[in-house]
Amino acid sequence: MADMKEVLLRATAEAGKIIQFYFNGTFKINNKGSVNNLVTEVDKLSEDRIIEIIRENFPDHSIISEEVGELLKPSDYQWIIDPIDGTVNFAHGIPICCVSIALKYKDDLMLGAVYNPMMNELFFAEKGEGATLNGIPISVSTKTDFKQACLVTGFPYKWPESKEHPIKVFERFIMEGLPIRRLGSAAIDLCWVACGRFDGFWEYNLSSWDVAAGYLIVQEAGGVITNFEGSPYNVFERETLATNGHIHEAMLEAINRRSA
Ligand code: IPD
Ligand code: CA
Ligand code: CA
Repeated sequence: MADMKEVLLRATAEAGKIIQFYFNGTFKINNKGSVNNLVTEVDKLSEDRIIEIIRENFPDHSIISEEVGELLKPSDYQWIIDPIDGTVNFAHGIPICCVSIALKYKDDLMLGAVYNPMMNELFFAEKGEGATLNGIPISVSTKTDFKQACLVTGFPYKWPESKEHPIKVFERFIMEGLPIRRLGSAAIDLCWVACGRFDGFWEYNLSSWDVAAGYLIVQEAGGVITNFEGSPYNVFERETLATNGHIHEAMLEAINRRSA
């Protein structure tokens, strides 16, 4: 049987070639659901190639992929795919986008890869084996003072009335003088926490394909990832908080402290 890690890395590389080939080129763009929720024909091309490679090698495994949905089989193995994370960036020629592929066995993420071909950055993690960037081990930052943290977030297209508007939490951090970035790719946000560029990331309403690979990469790089209550996180949850661990409590407190 083919090696799962080899297949995951091959699918990631092939998708990366497709993304890079079309970047800044000509392709069709459609919207789904809302006017700025985009899907391009390159998302589909990338997805088709990834699924083709997985199916050739593991025809009995389940797949969840953003554009095609669930291709379920009675298997304990599940591939979770975002064929382009950061599609709005991709459609605008902003080189912050990637392919993200994870492999889950039962409840455990086993493998994860996130590749931004425009920056030639491949983040990879295997459960229990640590995380790497282009083959070199990475770890989260060592910053302990929340007031000096550099953070990243994203804004959902929709949020429930019961939740404080995400801009309020953002405003609170800004008012405290913290630098906050908004890159537009949750998978890259997580990987940049994993390699210490950011100290923390939070976002509401992400999907499993946005976070699965990045989640394992953060964990294997020594980071902490929970929901907004601080409870253990799973990729099918809607609240994502990933940090270097040191500032986790401070971020939880700030996210849950409602503005007057
Ligand atoms: C989006 C990106 C973005 C996040 C959105 C996601 P897509 O994924 O990860 O950073 O804020 O919620 O939907 O649509 O580019 O795959
Ligand atoms: Ca995504
Ligand atoms: Ca996507």
